[in-house]
Amino acid sequence: MDRVLIFDTTLRDGEQSPGISLDVAEKLEIAEQLARLGVDVIEAGFPIASQGDFDAVEAIAKGVHGPVIAALSRTGFADIDRAWEAVRHAARPRLHVFIATSEIHMRKKLRMTPEQVKAEAAAGVARARSYTADVEFSPEDGYRSDPEFMCEVCQIAVDAGATTLNIPDTVGYAVPEDYARLIAYVREQVRGDYVLSTHCHDDLGLAVANSLAGVQAGARQVECAVNGLGERAGNAALEEVVMALRTRSDAFGNLGTGIRTEELARTSRLVSRLTGYPVQYNKAVVGRNAFAHESGIHQHGVLSDRETYEIIDAATVGQTAAQIVLGKHSGRHAFADSLRRMGLSLSGDALNQAFARFKELADRKVQITEADLEAIVAEELGAGAVHRFGLVDLDVAGGTRHTPTATVVVADGSSRREATATGNGMIDAAIEALAEATGVRGTLTDFNVSSVTSGGDALGDVVVQLEVDGLRASGRGVATDVVEAAARAYVGAVNKIVRLREQPVDRHGDVGP
Ligand code: KIV
Ligand code: ZN
Repeated sequence: MDRVLIFDTTLRDGEQSPGISLDVAEKLEIAEQLARLGVDVIEAGFPIASQGDFDAVEAIAKGVHGPVIAALSRTGFADIDRAWEAVRHAARPRLHVFIATSEIHMRKKLRMTPEQVKAEAAAGVARARSYTADVEFSPEDGYRSDPEFMCEVCQIAVDAGATTLNIPDTVGYAVPEDYARLIAYVREQVRGDYVLSTHCHDDLGLAVANSLAGVQAGARQVECAVNGLGERAGNAALEEVVMALRTRSDAFGNLGTGIRTEELARTSRLVSRLTGYPVQYNKAVVGRNAFAHESGIHQHGVLSDRETYEIIDAATVGQTAAQIVLGKHSGRHAFADSLRRMGLSLSGDALNQAFARFKELADRKVQITEADLEAIVAEELGAGAVHRFGLVDLDVAGGTRHTPTATVVVADGSSRREATATGNGMIDAAIEALAEATGVRGTLTDFNVSSVTSGGDALGDVVVQLEVDGLRASGRGVATDVVEAAARAYVGAVNKIVRLREQPVDRHGDVGP
């Protein structure tokens, strides 16, 4: 293999990040962007875990073309059959079967003997292979397993038909040298025709370093997630792995990836917006400061030659979205055209709704950038999902002498509901009034305010995480006024809670890897 395959697990391991709960439409939107980005494999979910996961895998398998679509499964036949039922519609389906091989997992979690684990691996992979020729096997907690035993299980999996062997550092305990040694050991010990893969978690901040060390030792697939999302501290960050392989190809035997790197920033923004997880400002590659130069010496250097202080051209990763694309005089045509160029294809009602919102914003903000456009379109349409409530009106009064008060009007179908409330501040009052008007009251577990672009008229961007009766949802709102942005974010989260309430709750707490 002369390049490294990028296996994206944003929708599976990434979605296991605390507080993230994506619905089917949102997962589909992310999967479409991942296909545009050029990932080789999309791990779309864990179908046995919930009906929502099943539906998302099925929708992605049916509707997203280009990458291999993978579904995760334990070794039990019920898991595998369910995973296959969801993923079988893909042009190139993959079943990803896993079972733990470390002493602690076998004894304390699986309550199985090593012999039972071997038998499970053989039967599970054979079952998967009876459905598809593309089967991946992972010895969970592989890094903390006895290497000899883990290789024995891997050999059984390859003999039963596995075509990819993935070696997880499930708890992020590895250091690069040791992880590379383990990958080299597997290559040496396990005979057969298979692609060797890395899967590293970031508990020690070493996930990317470990993955790259794995590539240097012979791995040709890297499992990673956009913005480094994933269980606990996350998985290896896709954008960092890809740009390290590209920028330092000299250190990796000139192995490239199939990624269209100009799509990296947009993918990162989309995932951040839909998951409600903000991207750290100084995050490598996709952080807003990744190409900002603060000191005069650096600015001077970059002006005379970019390469004095930059190792990546911002355009290479799509970090130039701040150009002005539209203003208040722009018409529907220019608006639709800008969206099309950004890969956002809207038509009919969706286009009308987005255009109306754009006009409303353009009246208050002179210049609309690509990033602004992305934000308003995504917020307004929420990936095409059905919104029960809409914010119609918001009036707030406050200051240092008066009790902050808000009056809101929300649309609920064809009826209107009005409520007035006071609070600690104007945002608090607005949220209290919205809780009253919608009847959905919960705990705000996170509240984050930032600006989409810079300048006094920049759009305020608010992300909230709302928890109601054990259901969690994020919402995002953008507006030139942060109180309005917060209100929109709250309404977005409430709409998601309403949709979640309508879904059967069947996520089994104990099936997560
Ligand atoms: O971290 C892990 O071990 C996993 C496996 C299911 C691949 O996510
Ligand atoms: Zn994992």
